[in-house]
Amino acid sequence: MSTETVTITDNTSGKSVECPVRKGTLGQPVIECQGIAKELGMFTYDPAFVTTASTESAISYIDGENGILLHRGYPIDQLAENSTYLEVCYLLLNGELPTQTEMADFESKIKRLSLLHESLINFFNGFKRDAHPMSMLVGVMGGMSSFYHEELDIYNPEHREMCAMRVVAKMPTIAAKSFRYLLGRPYVYPRHDLNYVENFANMMFDLPNRESTLNATAVRALDIMLILHADHEQNASTSTVRLAGSSQANPYACVAAGIATLWGPAHGGANEAVIKMLHEIGDVKNIPSYIEKVKDKENPTRLMGFGHRVYKNFDPRATIIRKACHDLLEQLDAGDQQPMFQIAMELERIALEDEYFVDRKLYPNVDFYSGIILSALGIPTNMFTPLFAVARSVGWIAQWKEMIEEPSLKIGRPRQVYTGYAARDYTPIAQR
Ligand code: SDX
Repeated sequence: MSTETVTITDNTSGKSVECPVRKGTLGQPVIECQGIAKELGMFTYDPAFVTTASTESAISYIDGENGILLHRGYPIDQLAENSTYLEVCYLLLNGELPTQTEMADFESKIKRLSLLHESLINFFNGFKRDAHPMSMLVGVMGGMSSFYHEELDIYNPEHREMCAMRVVAKMPTIAAKSFRYLLGRPYVYPRHDLNYVENFANMMFDLPNRESTLNATAVRALDIMLILHADHEQNASTSTVRLAGSSQANPYACVAAGIATLWGPAHGGANEAVIKMLHEIGDVKNIPSYIEKVKDKENPTRLMGFGHRVYKNFDPRATIIRKACHDLLEQLDAGDQQPMFQIAMELERIALEDEYFVDRKLYPNVDFYSGIILSALGIPTNMFTPLFAVARSVGWIAQWKEMIEEPSLKIGRPRQVYTGYAARDYTPIAQR
């Protein structure tokens, strides 16, 4: 632990407090500011937690200035190139890459847990056929908290392990069933002869009246997409899962809260918003006028897929996705996606030359190209964020596990700056 301190002085009272500086393995040091309340009678104020470290964590690390993302120390580009999503799940949950035996055992357990309780299927049937699939993921994952009571002691390591495995194993099944329900297609069950991502693709696309055509290129692109979205430090949805988990709530309910948070267009819903934006632009010649609209302060329009709270240089995931997107479109000969891809490439080129974006360090993030890949894979727009949720579910539950295993688990309870009325007396309605 560092012995460095910073001194915070209240210039009005002249009181000072020495605050310890805490340093991690990598990244900025942080000020432990509990003493400010105790010694100076003040809270710190940091809306949206822009400069607040809410926890220690050993799972992922982001260097926003240099476009670095590490999962348990492994660079995201090396994982995308060499690993599989299920292997990354093992890494995030256990801290180390698995041996062949460990991986085989992990994969076997996940396969055994990939079915959904048949009575949960009735849940799907209660939704309208035009529901957004994210509403179904929130509902069904929340519904999972009414099951498995025999293994819900969050202070039992084996129970925590089972909760984590169930979330990883069942999220693809839930997402695929949501997709099938909305199309009015029969459900497809997971199969033992397919690996994790093949199963996900098969549950989404297989049809009883035609040969299942799992395209290896498409399955690998889907695998990479899942890897790139698996975890990302204390983003909004992960922070939600941690805050919910800090009350010792049921882990499936915590993951449901994470799904709900991810749904927003400022977060995981951006990939769906990017495609809508590219369709709205419609043609490369419309890009300059669209950019002017985005720059107009009176106009709330934002360039979806651009900007990031942490990455102020480039999102390493966007670099990987951009290349995968280009390769996939070439290999799949997805001609219908080419115009969209061309608009995206031209939009990226223009935006990166425009001082509005350069001055604000707004670069393409992971969502900018992901929607084009998913469209090329035949995944409908409303399934983009559910796919992000499938990928991120391992990050949520790994971070939940890490928090519950903290010896000093405390319920999260931020304070506020009160700007309402001072105390005043009630007046009867006849006198108002
Ligand atoms: C994800 O946190 C994570 O790690 C998230 C994520 C993950 O893996 O979990 O990486 C996934 O959510 C990626 C982000 C997806 N969202 C989008 O692509 C939506 C579009 N982006 C923005 O809404 C925005 O950039 C955020 C929300 C991503 C970040 O916003 P910040 O950090 O709160 O920045 P800000 O709102 O304070 O903006 C700073 C300035 C403002 O202009 P000024 O007031 O200084 O003049 O930049 C402008 C903003 O208006 N700005 C944009 C913009 N993003 C910021 N202007 C136009 N288009 C944009 N996209």
